[in-house]
Amino acid sequence: MAETINVCFVCLGNICRSPTAEGVFRALVTQAGLSDRIHVESAGTAGYHIGELPDPRAREHAARRGLQLVSRARQFQARDFERLHYVLAMDKQNYRDLVALRSVARSDSVHLALFRDFDRSAPRGSSVPDPYYGGPEGFEEVLDQCERAAAGLLEAIKTRLKSEGR
Ligand code: 4NP
Repeated sequence: MAETINVCFVCLGNICRSPTAEGVFRALVTQAGLSDRIHVESAGTAGYHIGELPDPRAREHAARRGLQLVSRARQFQARDFERLHYVLAMDKQNYRDLVALRSVARSDSVHLALFRDFDRSAPRGSSVPDPYYGGPEGFEEVLDQCERAAAGLLEAIKTRLKSEGR
């Protein structure tokens, strides 16, 4: 059995953006019949909400698109880099925090990037804005942005699986 490709989405609190990205991407992976090849998870750079379900607003907006968000918040650890293949940051601050953590980890092959850089229609360096302190439209925007970036990410991983002959 080939090793799975391990993908982790990372935001600040792990209760809004990264669980949404996780839910959106897992649904795409399942539709593509790749659940046994690609493992999907999420984490936060901060530990404010450890153990909590995603924010009720994130769950409600996702549910309207047929997605159940069931993850529990956890804080990203430097050692996570040792088993992950793709670490996708939701915004530039998350990205900078992850770069700092990677510098103290053993990780030769991890692909660390801004998630929206997988969306070819988004300007390079785009973030998924934090919806936590805003209104419902912010949660819809997060879902829209995650859907586009998730499609690009899946294409990139499929290309990698093909080039590795699996
Ligand atoms: P997230 O949103 O990073 O998308 O999960 C936030 C959740 C909680 C907080 C900030 C952002 N907070 O400050 O508690």
